[in-house]
Amino acid sequence: MNHFQYKDGVLCAEGVRLDLLAEKVGTPFYCYSTATFARHYKVFVEAVPTGSLVAYAIKANDNLAVLKTLAQLGAGADVVSGGELAKALAAGIPAGKIVFSGVGKTKDEMRSALEAGIYQFNVESEPELAALDEVARSLGKRAPVTLRVNPDVDAKTHAKITTGTAETKFGIPFSRAREAYAHAARMAGIEIVGVDVHIGSQITELEPFETAFTRVREFVGTLRGDGHNITRLDLGGGLGVPYENSNMPPPDPSVYGAMVARVTKDLGCTLSFEPGRLIAANAGVLVSKVIYVKKGEAKDFLIIDAGMNDLIRPAMYEAHHEIVAVTEPKVGSPRPRYDVVGPVCETSDLFASSRPLPELKSGDLVAILSAGAYGAVMAGDYNARPRVPEVLVHGEQWGIVRPRETYADLIAKDRIPDWLSS
Ligand code: LLP
Repeated sequence: MNHFQYKDGVLCAEGVRLDLLAEKVGTPFYCYSTATFARHYKVFVEAVPTGSLVAYAIKANDNLAVLKTLAQLGAGADVVSGGELAKALAAGIPAGKIVFSGVGKTKDEMRSALEAGIYQFNVESEPELAALDEVARSLGKRAPVTLRVNPDVDAKTHAKITTGTAETKFGIPFSRAREAYAHAARMAGIEIVGVDVHIGSQITELEPFETAFTRVREFVGTLRGDGHNITRLDLGGGLGVPYENSNMPPPDPSVYGAMVARVTKDLGCTLSFEPGRLIAANAGVLVSKVIYVKKGEAKDFLIIDAGMNDLIRPAMYEAHHEIVAVTEPKVGSPRPRYDVVGPVCETSDLFASSRPLPELKSGDLVAILSAGAYGAVMAGDYNARPRVPEVLVHGEQWGIVRPRETYADLIAKDRIPDWLSS
């Protein structure tokens, strides 16, 4: 079920009224639902073959309270930096359930991950392999490694979030992968354990996944023929979520899981997955207040107190987010069109163009939906706008899991050099 519902005419997160929350914490703020994180995680675990590692891609939402919620359900983590590794460990995710992805791991990051004893490194290039070998040997360890192969499959998603085609920086091309494995097998600090693939994000069709996984399946046969001990397959993340009501929703996790089972059956590999958006996107909303309704020549602007610095997805990917009024509109009430914009001095600070919404006035609250993934994590303080708070709801309970930044916080970030201080 959807845990963001109107109750008695007010939008609630589980058992908490968003209007009352706005009074307590001010606007804008992110609000997350524990029950939704839990439901999405469980749906995914139940969809994929039993015994798989579900390593939540923490880049989607790395708030410690969110990570702890998922850790308590048994989730692992997919991390892409030393910072994410530190956060995953701090939240209680066992090192043995952590996979380390990313094209630019530094030696320091590799060292931390080896010392922690992570489950596996998904290595993306030959130079990275050489660096990892060196670091592992210096620690007297062998790094468990999959090579991320680039299957040259078009994920049919936004160009900025496709990763599995030959033009992108990600993975090792199939044409060189066999040689890279042969090379890895000769490295004393590397233990080859499997193959990794991730073709992009917000993928709304099954077919690109199936094509990529089938190529990987065939490749596993080749590698085994070459004498490699391939026991694991990491199939990445990328399954899309519905951002709006459409008659072409993304495939249901159960359909995705059935396809995976079909393609990987008989391989005898332990599977891992790296879902991010699927777990987090619809578990969060961004609540914002209307500052002004500005009548333009051609259109009306709803100027709200959240900006592109708080949620950059519409500006960066032309992403669609549903926007609803926190006070439930009366059935049949008018729905004028607004351009919903923030206060940031950029034309791209636009959340929605010509969007039909209930009639709104200064002071009214709106909720931007599906903002739990790639929302707060991608926020910044452009225009000296303090980062907004994050609130986690659990039934009737709520807690501020990231406080609002203050002007003093902003000012304290910078330093004045000697020649300016006197
Ligand atoms: N694994 C790897 C190696 C990844 O690069 C990503 C996402 C994931 C897993 C998780 O993918 P997901 O299940 O969340 O689709 N900021 C963009 C999305 C960037 C995704 C980057 N990599 C957005 O807001 O749409």
